[in-house]
Amino acid sequence: MTGRASIAGVGIALPRARRTNADLAARVDTSDAWIRERTGIRERRVAGLGETTATLAVAAGGAALEDAGVAPDDVDLLVVATATPEQPIPHTAAFVAADLGMRCGSFDLAAGCSGFLYSLVVGASMLGAQGTARVLVVGSETLSRVIDPDDRTTCILFGDGAGAALLEPVDGDRGLLAWDHGTDGSAAGILGIRAGGSRRPTSAETVAGGEHWLHMAGQEVFRRAVRAVVASITATLGRTGHRPGEIDWFVPHQANARIVDAAAQRLAIPPERCVQNIEWYGNTSAASIPIALREALDDGRLRDGDLVLLAGFGAGMTWGSALLRWGTTPSRS
Ligand code: ACO
Repeated sequence: MTGRASIAGVGIALPRARRTNADLAARVDTSDAWIRERTGIRERRVAGLGETTATLAVAAGGAALEDAGVAPDDVDLLVVATATPEQPIPHTAAFVAADLGMRCGSFDLAAGCSGFLYSLVVGASMLGAQGTARVLVVGSETLSRVIDPDDRTTCILFGDGAGAALLEPVDGDRGLLAWDHGTDGSAAGILGIRAGGSRRPTSAETVAGGEHWLHMAGQEVFRRAVRAVVASITATLGRTGHRPGEIDWFVPHQANARIVDAAAQRLAIPPERCVQNIEWYGNTSAASIPIALREALDDGRLRDGDLVLLAGFGAGMTWGSALLRWGTTPSRS
């Protein structure tokens, strides 16, 4: 491979159905004012009948291929990051590959809301290995399927959607410059779904006990998230010598507007340099970064040559960050 890994195409898919704060307040003891003040969220999208993690991933992946002008046959690896897989076996990427007409290697990547960042790093690292020329990475989630609609501490936060990026090598100074990732598994208990796996197989008891819903110690996640994101970004920037003031666009995982604001403030990244759209989609986990990237491309903010900082954190707890020089002129070696 000549050159670094670049994002040559971005595609997204969002369910049509919207769930507003007023809709939630009609069911649980909450209010539009509380949700907006604590999270920045006004509404989120919810998968409807026939929409699943795989169907959203197919739509987003297809759009990314079209954006890059690449045929499914020309992709050498497919990675689907998700915390809400199509079913336990087989992996979600198998369904996505079938619908996109791809026969290349594929796997799912589970790293909670850091999934897209991890996929980006893994996909970028694979480019050039044994002739791998193009990697499609997708973040896709249907969190509405694992959220207890009566739990006001979680139902307000999450939304459904998918985003995808086609990775290709690029010449010159463009592409992925540096990255960082990590895990603190001692915090595995603060965010997750307890049942349905090897440790606690599905039973009448786990279903009756609501153990298949996502649970979260929100304040603890919040506290750790800000710390982890700031440390990760500091490490990534340190690898290149770039300073926060040089960042053109900070595109963080959209978890909570207050988390993003707190992290940006500690890093001295001005609010006008932060891409935030949590207001309209809530936390879409592994999908949130590519959805925000697509929005910044569509409204003309994100341009060729921009220095772009991505960062995320999620269940695990996992975290990661990546610094890219945005470029759309990949080398076709
Ligand atoms: N409406 C009204 N009141 C509420 C609601 C609600 N929806 N939810 C909780 N409250 C109440 C609580 O019961 C509590 O009441 P009390 O003081 O009488 O006990 C009060 O509001 C404050 O609750 P906190 O939990 O302290 O509220 P906080 O300001 O921390 O906000 C929130 C909660 C929004 C969940 C926040 O902690 C958060 O965003 N945490 C991070 C979540 C996150 O980023 N998750 C990422 C997931 S990543 C992945 O991998 C899936």
